[in-house]
Amino acid sequence: MHRFALKRGRLWCEGVPVEEVARRVGTPAYLYSHGTILDHYRKLQTAFRPVKALICFAVKANGNLAVLRLLARAGAGFDIVSQGELERALRAGADPKKIVYASVGKTEEEIRKAVQAGILFFNVESAQELRQIQEVCRKLKKRQRVSLRLNPEVDPHTHSFIATGQAASKFGMDFSTVSTLLRRRGEFPNLLFAGLHIHIGSQILEAAPFEAAVRKALRMISLARKEGAPIDTLNIGGGLGIVYHQEAPQTAAEFARRILPLLKGRSLQIILEPGRFIVGNSGILLTRVLVLKESGRKKFAIVDAGMNDLIRPSLYGAYHEIVPASQNGMLRKKARYDVVGPVCESGDFFAKGRLLPSLAAGDLLAILGAGAYGFTMSSNYNARPRAAEVLVRGNRWHLIRRRETFADLVRGERIPSFLK
Ligand code: LLP
Repeated sequence: MHRFALKRGRLWCEGVPVEEVARRVGTPAYLYSHGTILDHYRKLQTAFRPVKALICFAVKANGNLAVLRLLARAGAGFDIVSQGELERALRAGADPKKIVYASVGKTEEEIRKAVQAGILFFNVESAQELRQIQEVCRKLKKRQRVSLRLNPEVDPHTHSFIATGQAASKFGMDFSTVSTLLRRRGEFPNLLFAGLHIHIGSQILEAAPFEAAVRKALRMISLARKEGAPIDTLNIGGGLGIVYHQEAPQTAAEFARRILPLLKGRSLQIILEPGRFIVGNSGILLTRVLVLKESGRKKFAIVDAGMNDLIRPSLYGAYHEIVPASQNGMLRKKARYDVVGPVCESGDFFAKGRLLPSLAAGDLLAILGAGAYGFTMSSNYNARPRAAEVLVRGNRWHLIRRRETFADLVRGERIPSFLK
């Protein structure tokens, strides 16, 4: 459940009419619901309470400091993939002992910074990375917990761009590589082989692929423990799907009901790394209609947000619900629109042939389900400043990132002297 609702033709987020925010901060703007983020976090936490799972929010889904701070305060840890995300998490007040660090390529500096920060786990994706981490730890005279990322080779039935646990994927290591490394753990005296990590993909609607992957991971853990590896943690990754359109994803409780029985009696600390599940439906993108035009038999609604603000429809053909935020849609006739941005690319669209109440220039639209992989994947393409971000809590709203300025866009650029 999310806390966005249409009441008498106006869209509200918690106790705030979103039109008011759009008037004050302009558009395009991302708007997040504090209550929804917490609800979603708590749903998962409650479902996995029997094993006291540590929930490490995937920062890549939404890295705004205020969003991270509110989750850190609620007790969340963080799943990071870069030094930048480490900095964000620490600045937001994260407990380093609740940070896990994945990514198939980590630089020496990134590894050093994370070791020095005292993170809980590196989720290691190759033998070479293991050697790198060992070397950094040797120099720093530190001991570090690592968990090997197993590619469990299951099909998560999701978009190929966001499936990560199949044999042909670049992520993780196959069964034999993981077991060889666990056997040779003596070669890495500064590393404690305490965990196993899996993450099979994103926007996964059913429990079966998770179950299959967890079973494989547990088999690996049993083998490793028999050989004396001190594995005390299983990280199940993220990937829980949400409703964008007509999906019927498993709930957190259903997911837990399928996974928890597998973990009984294993004495494992469980980690989850959800991103989308927590923030996806906690955020919307507000945009205004700039121009309406007809071409052939098509109607275009050209809005002031573009693919640079929200790339999911262009990149994955993703469906995002669009609702008029400031009109009584019931009273207007409906028409089909291509809702497109002003960016110079044919791929710059939010919806095609979408049935909407007749639109007029100046109408405010809300693109729903934009809280995950929205702002974090945005860019400055076409020299477009990135959008403002707003957090709503109850009947108050707070600007949590000001809209970028043109000065922001050229900061750091220099004209060399030979061109002056
Ligand atoms: N853990 C790892 C190791 C991951 O790679 C990811 C996401 C997550 C956790 C969080 O997954 P989630 O719970 O949010 O599904 N940009 C794409 C999604 C890419 C996901 C990348 N990895 C999209 O907009 O759909």
